[in-house]
Amino acid sequence: MSQPSPASLMAIKIVIVGAGSVGVTTAYALLLSGLAADIVLIDIDGNRAQGEAMDLSHAGHSAQARVRVGEYEDCAGAAAVIITAGVNQKPGQTRMDLVKTNYALFQDVVPRVASNAPETVIVVATNPVDVLTHAAQRLSGFPVQRVIGSGTAMDTTRFRHELGHHYGVNPRNVHAVIIGEHGDSQLPVWSLASIAGMRLRDYCAQKAIAYDQDAMDACSRRTKEAAYEIIRRKGKTNYGVASVLVSIIEPIITNSDAIITVSRVGTYAGVADVALSMPCKLNRNGAHQDVPLLLSESERGQLRESALSIKSFIDSTKVEGV
Ligand SMILES: NC(=O)c1ccc[n+]([C@@H]2O[C@H](COP(=O)([O-])OP(=O)(O)OC[C@H]3O[C@@H](n4cnc5c(N)ncnc54)[C@H](O)[C@@H]3O)[C@@H](O)[C@H]2O)c1
Repeated sequence: MSQPSPASLMAIKIVIVGAGSVGVTTAYALLLSGLAADIVLIDIDGNRAQGEAMDLSHAGHSAQARVRVGEYEDCAGAAAVIITAGVNQKPGQTRMDLVKTNYALFQDVVPRVASNAPETVIVVATNPVDVLTHAAQRLSGFPVQRVIGSGTAMDTTRFRHELGHHYGVNPRNVHAVIIGEHGDSQLPVWSLASIAGMRLRDYCAQKAIAYDQDAMDACSRRTKEAAYEIIRRKGKTNYGVASVLVSIIEPIITNSDAIITVSRVGTYAGVADVALSMPCKLNRNGAHQDVPLLLSESERGQLRESALSIKSFIDSTKVEGV
């Protein structure tokens, strides 16, 4: 596995389309990570993007990275282009309520990214992320591995946080994933969840503590509702998703084959041509390999429900021709 040297990192360019809350928080996290030397912001509101780039440049003084405003031509040569442009949820709205507006935006943005950067990896954060990952793949014509949705990487992080808190262990030592839709039909894979290499029930037995299914259900419910709760209080989410986006960008830049639950176009639980999240290996070629999970019968059924739900929204964009 080749790791780029500090010198080669200096050549790395990342473009962020959408310099709103998610876009600039991601730029800030990326700047502090030291992973990229050239961070380009593209936004329909050029003035705002300019102000953000100026402010970020001052924050990046010690990181020696450049943050600047660009045009679509600046996507050329980028290791990845992150798309965060679009409307976000208002309190009470689901992610799927955004589909019409953001799909229309993607019809404009994605072909411009693809024509200027035919070799790049597109990373989609705009919601509904699974429907738009599918749209971005179709509109770019890129191979499926080079169009990645942030998907349930965010939910998986939240889930590990919840379980870590419940069991009193660092979330890094919890192996548990949320798969399916980044949205209401997502599902936790309880059958494979583990701590220190032990399934949860075995971990509880070893620690002589009761396995509490109600508490587990509360963990997955809080995971699913986290974005609604945050939006109800502060009107948006930005820090969590920004750090997840950097964790997706890192293996692309460092070619390091990290396994992350991201959204990708494929066939899932018998449903073809849909995008949803399953664990994938990520390197400089994008989400180049899926990591098939040995799901229980009921989990496979739930995954199929999730796939069908996303698929119905994908089909609605085709029918309405938005
Ligand atoms: N995947 C996730 O986990 C996750 C988490 C949080 C938010 N989101 C999604 O990210 C998106 C952005 O959220 P936000 O809070 O940053 O919104 P925001 O309103 O703060 O920013 C959106 C930005 O997009 C820009 N924009 C609009 N149309 C554009 C176009 N045609 N070209 C370029 N730029 C354009 C706007 O000018 C604005 O700066 C939303 O769809 C939101 O739901 C996803």
